[in-house]
Amino acid sequence: MNQNPNWQQARQSAQSVAPNNLLARLRADTRGAHEALDQAFAPFQADPAAHLRSFLAAQMAGLTALSSSARLPHNTASLSLLSEMLDRLAQDCQQMAIPVPVVRPRSGLHPLAVAYLVIGSRLGTEVLRRTLVASGTERIPLYFAPQDYKAAWQGLCAELSAQSAAGPLADDVCDGVIAGFELFHSAARLTRETTGKLT
Ligand code: HEM
Repeated sequence: MNQNPNWQQARQSAQSVAPNNLLARLRADTRGAHEALDQAFAPFQADPAAHLRSFLAAQMAGLTALSSSARLPHNTASLSLLSEMLDRLAQDCQQMAIPVPVVRPRSGLHPLAVAYLVIGSRLGTEVLRRTLVASGTERIPLYFAPQDYKAAWQGLCAELSAQSAAGPLADDVCDGVIAGFELFHSAARLTRETTGKLT
């Protein structure tokens, strides 16, 4: 579990502005967790070649744990993206002989929370692909290859925007997204400890 005080602080101040639907609440309540993750992977963005293997190991560890933490059945909009991402990461890690740490999964994360993380993370991957290309990396791993996620993202945003920001469903989804981000924080930390990279 990440104990970053800045993250907790950001979350508390975001909560003081009342969001008017569930998507707005997720953005407000999890902005700090996402920014902290962005920071955890900052070394990769600054020097992609030096940290590529560790970045892929952390993504594989985090996504595997996220997938195992989902309350079943999976959200149908994200399921095919999730299995394609896992498959691509598995191929990348196998081809590059990258050891992957094991992150202990949680249980019962709401399928909408998992879908928000799975599909939303592809938005960031677009940015990272451009960074990799600009760095002159010769072989771009499969994980960064474009995926057709835009319709799924629009559909998910419409579904979340139609839900109330308060109540048991909203709390369940929001807790799931925060727990999901924590899995990726654990993945980054474990990878850092085992490889000495991402520091
Ligand atoms: C180096 C790592 C990462 C970077 C640089 C990054 C960057 C970004 C950027 C730039 C966006 C906004 C794109 C846009 O508005 O067009 C975004 C969105 C998002 N990212 Fe990340 N990301 C990273 C990792 C992750 C990970 C590991 C996850 C979750 C597992 C994640 C979850 C999300 C979500 C859910 C959104 C959508 C937020 C919303 O609009 O509601 N990101 N990311």
